[in-house]
Amino acid sequence: MSGKRILITGAAGFLGSHLCDRFVKEGNDVIGMDNLITGDLRNIEHLFKLKNFEFYNHDVSKFIHVPGHLDYILHFASPASPIDYLKIPIQTLKVGALGTHNCLGLAKEKKARILVASTSEVYGDPLVHPQTEEYWGNVNPVGPRGVYDEAKRFMESITMAYHTYHGVETRIVRIFNTYGPRMRLNDGRALPAFIGQALRGEDLTVFGDGSQTRSFCYVDDLVEGIYRLLLSDYAKPVNIGNPNEISLKDFAEEVLKLTGSKVKIIYKPLPVDDPKQRKPDISKAKQLLNWEPKIDRAAGLKKTYDYFKSLPEAEWSKQPKEFGKHK
Ligand SMILES: NC(=O)c1ccc[n+]([C@@H]2O[C@H](COP(=O)([O-])OP(=O)(O)OC[C@H]3O[C@@H](n4cnc5c(N)ncnc54)[C@H](O)[C@@H]3O)[C@@H](O)[C@H]2O)c1
Repeated sequence: MSGKRILITGAAGFLGSHLCDRFVKEGNDVIGMDNLITGDLRNIEHLFKLKNFEFYNHDVSKFIHVPGHLDYILHFASPASPIDYLKIPIQTLKVGALGTHNCLGLAKEKKARILVASTSEVYGDPLVHPQTEEYWGNVNPVGPRGVYDEAKRFMESITMAYHTYHGVETRIVRIFNTYGPRMRLNDGRALPAFIGQALRGEDLTVFGDGSQTRSFCYVDDLVEGIYRLLLSDYAKPVNIGNPNEISLKDFAEEVLKLTGSKVKIIYKPLPVDDPKQRKPDISKAKQLLNWEPKIDRAAGLKKTYDYFKSLPEAEWSKQPKEFGKHK
């Protein structure tokens, strides 16, 4: 695909910045939009010199105005890690609800196709394993994670409503844990937390007994899946993630091996409503998009570690705040 005009919200974030790279590289005009609440302009500063990239500093929970036509909108603006959405719960609810509403309104006005970034968190602490798109989830609406999970569930509902009632071309991706360069070391997610601790020579903190599982997808694989979904004609949710499941304890051990660090793994109490297991069923993505992840964990972890190591020491030597300790 080339020559299209694309709005990407959350452009200065981890995933948004990789999506900007992909669509710019293919010769599209990309408008990145972000209010920088959890993002960082350094993730996209290499794009500022390009003619086919523009940046709007804007909060998408407020009315969005973009002059000119748009072919596609990718709505990725939202705090995404527990440490962020526990710190800014109201903004998280607003961007999932009002921000999505604004993006859908813009898609309707511009007759653009819109893809929204949902999450495996819509499955909550799942009672079905692996998670298929047909599973409705097990979410606590009033628990601390409810602000994120329910905002994303509302996002999916309003997106389907715009599809059904207004005929807007919509796509919904349910993203499972993704990792790679440009994650923030202090965002509370397992991988940057482990790598940051290893680099600082601190013990690695695993919450609970470490038997809870996650399935980690390298960012380039995710971007390819999103790209294919955007160009498909399928409007219902599609899981994109890597089904290769690992316990957090084993994952911490892999990070220790990779970094050569001699520190220990220590255990702390599990946060409230932490999902015990997570693994996408990707049959739909395979069948509809002919997509499956290509980058194995060893290769992806190495690229991610090399990225963090390349940052100035002042970045990773900072002590991140503890998970869940934010007001
Ligand atoms: N990274 C993952 O593993 C993962 C998994 C599932 C879903 N997702 C979804 O993907 C999207 C991006 O996640 P990420 O990991 O890149 O997070 P991120 O925090 O790195 O990026 C999110 C970006 O959105 C911006 N933003 C937040 N609220 C905004 C607002 N009101 N207006 C404008 N910009 C706003 C932030 O400043 C940031 O740049 C999110 O919607 C998230 O829910 C990510």
